Amino acid sequence: MPAAVHVRELTADDLDAAWELGRFAFGSDSQRPASTSTAVPGLTRYGAFDDAGRLVGKAVDLHHDQWWTGRAMPAADVAGVAVAPEARGRGVARAMLTALLRGAHERGAAISALYPTVAAPYRAFGWEAAGVLRTVDLATASLPRHQPAAHLTVRAGAPADLPAVAALYERVGRHRNGMLTRRGELFDFFAADRGLPGDGLTLVEAAGDLVGYAIWQRGRGYGADSVLTVDEALATTADAARELVGVLGSWASVAPTLRLCPLDGDAVSTHLPLESARDHKRDLWMHRPVDVARAVSARGWPAHASGTVDVTLADPLAEWNTGTWRLTVAEGAAELSRISGEADFRLDVRGFALLYTGAARARSVAQAGLLHHPAGVDPSALDLLGAGGPAQLLDYF
Ligand SMILES: CC(C)(COP(=O)(O)OP(=O)(O)OC[C@H]1O[C@@H](n2cnc3c(N)ncnc32)[C@H](O)[C@@H]1OP(=O)(O)O)[C@@H](O)C(=O)NCCC(=O)NCCS
Repeated sequence: MPAAVHVRELTADDLDAAWELGRFAFGSDSQRPASTSTAVPGLTRYGAFDDAGRLVGKAVDLHHDQWWTGRAMPAADVAGVAVAPEARGRGVARAMLTALLRGAHERGAAISALYPTVAAPYRAFGWEAAGVLRTVDLATASLPRHQPAAHLTVRAGAPADLPAVAALYERVGRHRNGMLTRRGELFDFFAADRGLPGDGLTLVEAAGDLVGYAIWQRGRGYGADSVLTVDEALATTADAARELVGVLGSWASVAPTLRLCPLDGDAVSTHLPLESARDHKRDLWMHRPVDVARAVSARGWPAHASGTVDVTLADPLAEWNTGTWRLTVAEGAAELSRISGEADFRLDVRGFALLYTGAARARSVAQAGLLHHPAGVDPSALDLLGAGGPAQLLDYF
């Protein structure tokens, strides 16, 4: 199979073949979503073609933005990577991801996340495992019971409430690291003409302002195996979270299991009996910088973080990142400027990903062999790169 592959953006004529390739790789339903046969704004579809012009691989660059400490960062999140079975193990994914990174860099992306079915190829391309999207099951009856609070109103939401829901999501997510902004052409395209995102939307309001919401899918039946799936439950005050959790707990008699993705340390999670949560699903996600200089300058930084550290970075797939850099963090901003020579710290791009996302500290990265430094030099100076705590994603793609 292909001695060399040619990678280019897919055109409308390629979309049938791309759908087939993806359908076989992921075992999708034969019912084809309309979006797979048309151009979709806010994403770039790449295809790899063999010498005969046959499509042998595909990958999609999703033009997301992610919140990083108050600033929206342009991301090239990757989805739908598939290689024809007969062409696997011959460098097709490598060629596609190299082109995707180059294209993402040209369009101004700073970082990238993806959910791998297998981590090894992405490690070979510079991504590293940085977090897990956990879906957990809780016994609905174990949620704390709650007397409705007189100062809060609970009501069922309607499509007209969705802008307020989006605004609350933003208040929860924008100061954190990693969460999608859910803004932009791609989200507008899929949100157009859509009603409620779930079967139901429960709203909690204080003096007319939205302070909490839960979007849920009812599921079937009311027996012992009935599940209420909460797509999202967020709140901006402890009272609102308590109220929301109380409403969710009221489903116990007809939906003994509550399924949801907790957001670490947020208002709702701090009211959930997480000690009894059982993992229903774990989706590992990986991260990589697309452009390290942008990844540092375009994000927000905690005001208390400050310092300077020099590092020599190796990034074989994105050579614009390779070289020696000086990281300067001060007063809520940071920059990476090129300097000459070799620094004491020699960092692999995967080590950069671990530090940047707060998934690991420099000592662990060194122990993993992704950071090298002279004996006697304390690597923890590089922890500066991870200021702002661990990143977390709440969207699957
Ligand atoms: C996973 C997949 C996309 C890899 O594509 P590919 O063209 O075979 O990968 P490449 O030949 O470019 O290999 C790239 C690297 O990953 C390694 N690799 C590829 N598939 C691997 C696997 N399943 N397990 C471990 N390592 C793997 C290769 O050894 C190679 O390493 P190297 O560069 O260090 O030599 C392809 O096997 C596939 O389509 N699988 C089914 C669908 C799927 O799982 N898609 C991924 C969704 S996230």
